[in-house]
Amino acid sequence: MKLLQLVYCSQPFGYSLEILSAILIASRANNRKHDITGALICRSDIFLQLLEGPEQQVKNTYEAIQKDDRHINVYHLLDQFCEKRLFPAWAMKDDPVKTWMWSREEVSNGIVKSLSKAEVEEVFVKLSREATIFNF
Ligand SMILES: Cc1cc2nc3c(=O)[nH]c(=O)nc-3n(C[C@H](O)[C@H](O)[C@H](O)COP(=O)(O)O)c2cc1C
Repeated sequence: MKLLQLVYCSQPFGYSLEILSAILIASRANNRKHDITGALICRSDIFLQLLEGPEQQVKNTYEAIQKDDRHINVYHLLDQFCEKRLFPAWAMKDDPVKTWMWSREEVSNGIVKSLSKAEVEEVFVKLSREATIFNF
């Protein structure tokens, strides 16, 4: 089956561990029902999320996410079809921003919106390799 991978970034609004944990609990329950997997990179200044699964399910979920008031400035970065999931074992992996990613200054200067599609993909490919290592 053809799978859609969709990536967006946004700015958390009212970020706290409680809010993040509520987002993840609901996301994982919903995503399991809809055959969606992915990863949510998070820090108080940025969300960067990859959703993957059946096209219509991913689109419906993204539509709900766009309306969520726990973040603002939702910005679509990538849409592509793939044969294989990057995060098959994760209803939604949560990931803090890593040191190799971006400083707060870079994020506030808009570095994430200026990434090429290949660079966006590379971020998640790298994370998925770590996810695989830690899973075994
Ligand atoms: C940064 C962020 C990421 C989210 N990721 C997901 C997700 O992967 N799947 C999901 O169903 N909802 C996600 N949500 C929550 C949705 O916006 C929405 O609250 C939820 O889908 C509504 O579910 P409900 O109708 O079961 O209450 C996310 C919200 C935010 C702010």
